[in-house]
Amino acid sequence: MQPDELRNLYLNSFKKYGHAIVPSASIVPENDPTTLFTGSGMQPMMEYFLGAPHPKGTRIVNSQICFRSQDIEEVGDNRHTTFFEMLGNWSFGDYFKKEQLRWVFEFLTKNLGLDPQNLYVSAYEGNSKIGVDRDKETPAIWKKLFAEVGIVAEVVENAVEKGLQGGRIFYYGDGNWWSRAGAPKNMPAGEPGGPDSEIFYDFGVDRRLHENSEFKNKVCHINCDCGRFLEIGNSVFMQYQKQEDGSFAELPKKNVDFGGGFERILAVTQDEIDIFKTGLFSPIIMYLEKISGQKYNASEDSTRSFRVIADHMRAAVMLAANGVYPSNKKQGYFARRLVRRSIRYAKMIGIDQLFTADLVPVIVEIYKDSYPDVSQKLVQIQNALALEENKFVKTIEKGLKVIEKYQEAKESFVIDGITAFKLYETYGFPFELTQEIAQEKGQKISLEEFEIAKKLHSDQSRSSSADKFKGGLQDSSEQTTKYHTTTHLLHAALRKILGKHVQQKGSNITVDRLRFDFSHPQALTQEEKQKIQDQITTWIEAVLPVTVAHMSKEEALKSGAIAFFIEKYPDEVTVYTIGGKQDLTASAENLADSVQKTDENTSPDWISKEFCGGPHVKNTSEIGKIEIFREKAVSAGTRRLYLR
Ligand code: SER
Repeated sequence: MQPDELRNLYLNSFKKYGHAIVPSASIVPENDPTTLFTGSGMQPMMEYFLGAPHPKGTRIVNSQICFRSQDIEEVGDNRHTTFFEMLGNWSFGDYFKKEQLRWVFEFLTKNLGLDPQNLYVSAYEGNSKIGVDRDKETPAIWKKLFAEVGIVAEVVENAVEKGLQGGRIFYYGDGNWWSRAGAPKNMPAGEPGGPDSEIFYDFGVDRRLHENSEFKNKVCHINCDCGRFLEIGNSVFMQYQKQEDGSFAELPKKNVDFGGGFERILAVTQDEIDIFKTGLFSPIIMYLEKISGQKYNASEDSTRSFRVIADHMRAAVMLAANGVYPSNKKQGYFARRLVRRSIRYAKMIGIDQLFTADLVPVIVEIYKDSYPDVSQKLVQIQNALALEENKFVKTIEKGLKVIEKYQEAKESFVIDGITAFKLYETYGFPFELTQEIAQEKGQKISLEEFEIAKKLHSDQSRSSSADKFKGGLQDSSEQTTKYHTTTHLLHAALRKILGKHVQQKGSNITVDRLRFDFSHPQALTQEEKQKIQDQITTWIEAVLPVTVAHMSKEEALKSGAIAFFIEKYPDEVTVYTIGGKQDLTASAENLADSVQKTDENTSPDWISKEFCGGPHVKNTSEIGKIEIFREKAVSAGTRRLYLR
C-alpha cells in the first residue's frame, strides 16, 4: 500500500461514519505559546474538548503533521522519527467508546486487512487517588469485537510482572491515561485528560530483540518495547478535567481523541517491522544508496546513518514547507540541527558531495498529492536547505584549518576537550568531527572532557550574566534554571536510592527537558524510577531553600560538597546547598516548618551540596511538577535519564 492510499482510505472510512474531513493544522501551533511544535493530533483540537463548537461539527477526521524535537537523538531505530503524521478521528461530545473501538477495529481488520490474531489492546485499571474507576466497559467491548472474528480474548492484569499470560486485553495503570501533561498527577488545573485504550501489532516472538541485553531476561508484554509489539493507535476517552483542588471532574461532554501512527500503520500493512522500508522513506533511502555507493542494512552503524538522514531531511523539508527555515532561533534552531546532523551522518556513509538540494524533490514527490503546498514551495525549500548546507560545510572547513594551524604552531599539539569545545563555541564545529580528526591522528578525546569544558563555560557565563537578568528572567531562562536545580535534586535522589556509586557523567538542559547521565551498572526498574521521582517531588514540595556560598576548594570538600570533576575547578569555588537547618534562621517561618518536617531526622541536614556555578532557583518550591519520562543506556555502566 502506498502512503497516499492509506491516508485516503482512513479519511474516507471515517467519512462514511459521518466525519468531516479537515486539513492538517500547521506544524507550528498558532495560538499556543506553551510549545514550539505541534507534537500530537489533539493539540490543535484543545478548545473543542473544552466545549467550543467546531465549525465542521462534532465528528472530525484528519491526518495531522507533527514534530517531536525531543526525539531528535532517538532516531536511528526501526520506528522512531522526529516528523510524523497522526491519523485522528474526533468526537466532540458525540459518539463514545462503543462506536470508536468498533470503527477502529473494523478499519484495521476489514479495510486494511490486518489479521486480528496480530492485534492486542490495553485498558485503564483506574486510580483510586484521583477517584477514577477501572474502565470495565472497554475490555467488554474488545471481547465482543474479537469474539465476532472468532477469537477468545482474555483480560489480563499485572502484565509488567507476569507477562502475556495468554491474554489479549491488558489492564495497565497511568500509562493508559492520556493528557498533554502525561499522568493525572502531572496535569495542571484546567487540563483535560482521560483513560485510553491502545492497540498493538504483534510481529511475532521471533522479532523480539533477544540480542539486546536490556530485554534478554525481561518479561515480555505488549508495552515492553522489546520489538515484538508495536503500538499503532490510541483511543483516548477525553472525559475529565483537573480541578484547582487537584480532584477530577467530568467534562460537560465526553469526547474521543484517536491517534494512529501513520508511518507505523503503513509498515504493519506490509508486516514490515522497519518503517524506513515503506513508501514514505524508500525513495529517500534509494537516493542515499545511489550517492553513497553503500547499501541500506549493510551494517548496524550505516543503517542508523541512513535512517537519521532520511528522517531529518524529511522533517527539514516539511518544516520548511511550513515556514520554518534553519536559523539559530526558536523553531529554526531545530531545522538547523536537522540539516547539520544529516550532513554529519551523510559523511559517515561516505557522502562527500552537496546533496540536500537534490534530495528535496525526492521528498516532495512523496507528499505532493496530499500536501500540494509542499511542491509549490519546492524551490524555496531547496534554496533554504542548500544555503544551510553551504554554511555548515564552510564551518567545517574553517575548523579544519584552525586545527591545522594549532598543529603547525606546536608539534606536540594534542586535541583535548577544551580545544574541542573552543572549536564548537567559536565555529560551531561539531564535537563528533573533532573527535574523528583526533582519532585519525591517533589521539583520543572523550565526550566527557568536552562536556566538562562546556559546563565550565556555561557556568561561568551564567554567573556573569546572572546580574543582567535579575528581576526580569525570561521564560526560557527561568525554565532552564528550574531544570538546573532539578539536576542537583536528581543527583541527590539517585545517590540516596541507588547508592553512592552514582556519579554525574554529564547533563544537558533545554527549555523542554533535562537530560542526566550517571554511572550505574544496569537499567533502572520501574519501581526505582518511581521512587526517584517521588523523592524529588517530596523535596520540591518540602519548600527547601537553595543557598550559595563561596569558599576554598578544600573547605568545600571538607563540608561534604560533591564535585563533578574536581581537578577542573579553580581554588576558590562556589557551592550550592539545598535544604539544611543552617538556613532556617534566614528563611520565613513557614519554610522552616516544612523543612523540619522532611529533614529533621536525617543526617546530614542538607540534601544536596555541589560545586556549581549556578544559577539556581531560590527555593525548590519554584520548580513545580517534574516527571521522569525516559531512561536508556549511554554506554556500559552509564545510564541516561530524561525529566521534564
Ligand atoms: N492524543 C493521543 C496520543 O497522542 C491520541 O491521539 O497518543
